[in-house]
Amino acid sequence: MPTSDTTIVANDMREIAAALGGRTAQLEDATILLTGGAGFLGYYLINFFTHANATILKKKCRVICLDNFIRGVPPWLAAFEQSGAIRTVKADITKFDPAALGEIGYIIHAASIASPMYYRQYPIETMDANVIGLRILLDYAAAKMKSPRPLKSFLFFSSSEIYGDPLPDFIPTKEDFRGLVSCTGPRACYDESKRYGETLCVNFHQIHGVPVKIARPFNNYGPGLSIDDRRVIPDFCKNVLSGQNIVMLSDGSPTRTFCYIADAIAGYLLALLSSHNGEPFNIGIETPEISMRDMALTLLSTAERELGIGGLQLITGTSDDKNYLVDNPDRRCPSIEKARRLLGFNPTVSLEEGLRRALLWYSARIETGQ
Ligand SMILES: NC(=O)c1ccc[n+]([C@@H]2O[C@H](COP(=O)([O-])OP(=O)(O)OC[C@H]3O[C@@H](n4cnc5c(N)ncnc54)[C@H](O)[C@@H]3O)[C@@H](O)[C@H]2O)c1
Repeated sequence: MPTSDTTIVANDMREIAAALGGRTAQLEDATILLTGGAGFLGYYLINFFTHANATILKKKCRVICLDNFIRGVPPWLAAFEQSGAIRTVKADITKFDPAALGEIGYIIHAASIASPMYYRQYPIETMDANVIGLRILLDYAAAKMKSPRPLKSFLFFSSSEIYGDPLPDFIPTKEDFRGLVSCTGPRACYDESKRYGETLCVNFHQIHGVPVKIARPFNNYGPGLSIDDRRVIPDFCKNVLSGQNIVMLSDGSPTRTFCYIADAIAGYLLALLSSHNGEPFNIGIETPEISMRDMALTLLSTAERELGIGGLQLITGTSDDKNYLVDNPDRRCPSIEKARRLLGFNPTVSLEEGLRRALLWYSARIETGQ
């Protein structure tokens, strides 16, 4: 079983490769443009492409990591740059011409702040990344579809937030649920721009034949998610690893299903490497649908068992962000039947095991001052 941060990530890369099977070979000699590559999902995607180059691909793929670093430069980026695993382009995708990058085979558009605490601080930038940035990439892709070397595939990162706060009859939520979303509330900059982004994708597929797929992630967590990101699992891990009680900023009743990053990345890559153009896919895990209170208690018992951190409790507090709970969905739980059936997606990491890997990864990074 993995014990150090690098062992955990290396083990996860092998799990992702096994989930993809022979499909990874499609990336032979390809150039991949990854926008938002300095973010949480970028960390695992870059790790996976590096792993594929070292162990699977006969002709290596090339990864262009484009990011404006609006949330800062992550500590792990320099090692990939120095080893030549990626080419980093510091740019804002809303003001950038992808043609300047040369030949591109795959586009993964992950540029958009994902943490509600931070996208509420940058609402216009968030909308622009999902609408203007996406439009620039789709225009580029549409032109490329008429060229002798058409784009192979395009993945747009939407969100489970496009469903808003589904009524109980629509949980687990399938892709055809139309959503119950505020267009003016504090989360609307994110939810509505993802919704319009999906509409752009579907129409660029229908009109221009762009081979775009839409991923709707449901609450990913694990290594690479900054402990200061202000999402709930890193917040709780931060409390625990600094020896403090877990501070819950809600009454603990909202429920989520949390999908471990290695499972989720396999799902995203299965979508990217599939032929299901113009289709949205829920990527998450169906069980357990767990309350924030029970998730916190699971984390406390995992910390005690794995790291010997005991004697901590669960307490409630109030967020310094007055909008923290406004329009916060009560329940979120996906149906992933479509992704299972069409992509062969099969998440396997339990919440206990995922929390164990996340805690050990954070703990090792703190120890080495990263
Ligand atoms: N992680 C999840 O659980 C989750 C859930 C739902 C949706 N998503 C979506 O997946 C994508 C990636 O998520 P993440 O967790 O890695 O997010 P993240 O916030 O960790 O990283 C996003 C990255 O995008 C960059 N960025 C933002 N605007 C940009 C711009 N205009 N030009 C260039 N770079 C820009 C940021 O600097 C950051 O490095 C996002 O589109 C997000 O909305 C993620």
